Amino acid sequence: ALPESVVVVLFGATGDLASRMVLPALHEVHDRGLMPAHWRLVGCATDVLDDDGFRDLVRASLERSELGVPAGWDPSAVRYAGGGFTAEDSGELPTVLAQVREELRDTAGTEPVVLHFLAVPPVAFAAITKGLGAHGLADGARVVFEKPYGTSAESFKELDALVKEVLTEDQVFRIDHFLGKEGVQTIYVLRFANQLFGSEWSRASIDQVQIDVPEDLDVANRATFYEATGAALDMLVTHLFQVAGQVAMEPPADLRDPESVIAAREAALRAFRPLDPVEDVVLGQFEGYTDIEGVPSDSVQDTFVAARLWVDTERWRGVPFLLRTGKRMARKTQRITLVLKPPFGPLAGELSEPNTIEICFAGDGEIRLGITVKTPGPDLTFSPGKAVLELDDVPGGEPISPYASLIHDALIGDRSLFTTAEGLRAAFAAFAPLQGEARPQPEPYAPGTWGPAAAHRLAAPHRWMLGE
Ligand code: BG6
Repeated sequence: ALPESVVVVLFGATGDLASRMVLPALHEVHDRGLMPAHWRLVGCATDVLDDDGFRDLVRASLERSELGVPAGWDPSAVRYAGGGFTAEDSGELPTVLAQVREELRDTAGTEPVVLHFLAVPPVAFAAITKGLGAHGLADGARVVFEKPYGTSAESFKELDALVKEVLTEDQVFRIDHFLGKEGVQTIYVLRFANQLFGSEWSRASIDQVQIDVPEDLDVANRATFYEATGAALDMLVTHLFQVAGQVAMEPPADLRDPESVIAAREAALRAFRPLDPVEDVVLGQFEGYTDIEGVPSDSVQDTFVAARLWVDTERWRGVPFLLRTGKRMARKTQRITLVLKPPFGPLAGELSEPNTIEICFAGDGEIRLGITVKTPGPDLTFSPGKAVLELDDVPGGEPISPYASLIHDALIGDRSLFTTAEGLRAAFAAFAPLQGEARPQPEPYAPGTWGPAAAHRLAAPHRWMLGE
């Protein structure tokens, strides 16, 4: 349930992530009437600013955002606490937080929920978390961590151990914004509310699952981050694995009970077989990557990854999950495709195209069915048809952006769509072989294509449903 009052403490408040994503999303939450009746936003960063200076930054961020600045905007609920925040030096935060809590106690008559939002680079996670413990700001609070939460099995373990010294798991909200996308959230409704889909959701009917996230963007403006990360770490072990978990999970006992949804997704992630880097992974690097300023000329960083993941459950035995993403590819889209087995019976062997269930999770989301129909006309011949349902067109609804959706969930204390320590531990365990000695060399691909030719073999006997 939505608390009576809340203080959102935004760490990294003057940074790029706060300005591009978090502040507009908070506004979206507010705009949709999903904010508690009484609220304060406290920006926290090292910059020397006063309240008005920070309010100007918030205003500038909203001006650039889709919703713009709300009419009659009153910034009095926005405060700023400078001086940074670590265990050694608490800066202005404890004082400002004590003030706004008291204000809210007076107006709302109850103790506000405190939501610490860490929109900071991962290197700062540890220092801030220790600070929360050291200065008594962790008790009863909820803490939102941005990704990446760890960059390997070991660094994940280290970070999580430190976090657990200060917080209990149910206080921790680790964001993977792909789980907040409308198209991804609709998967289990599609499946559990519609027998038509639910009954087909297994190896009995499905040949392959493809989770495909090609991007046409360049990495030139974030070369330093990218060179240290690469496509597999940036996207595969995080977003694509979580989406795969969402597709692969067994029916939770209760879809409205976060613990039961979490348990189902964790069980799916635990069933991921560790990747075989030789048989099941193709890495790529687009031609021209090493010419980017900040990228060493001998870089072997991957800008493309295609992987064949096996989910060792009874439901999915023998069904490859093909995961693919990369930069500078032919187009930008985000799609899950369940490739159905060919029919038996009178039309066995006659159809050229497999039937598909597709979930596009870019933007507002879309469900598409690739079905075979009689080619209209006098003859009995067959054509692939497409039925498209745009989620935006569903009556009575209004798609919510992933960040706003997840912030709302954090406000009501619902962890269903956040990654958990156990889920990430399992994800890094399946990913670990790709960080070892058997990691393949990235193969070159031309910008504007679908990646290295070698990736095609992973999809056999089908093909990647997106692409040539
Ligand atoms: C981020 C990755 O987490 O997700 C980026 O770091 C990627 O490399 C982005 O481009 C994709 O997000 P979206 O919102 O476009 O789906």
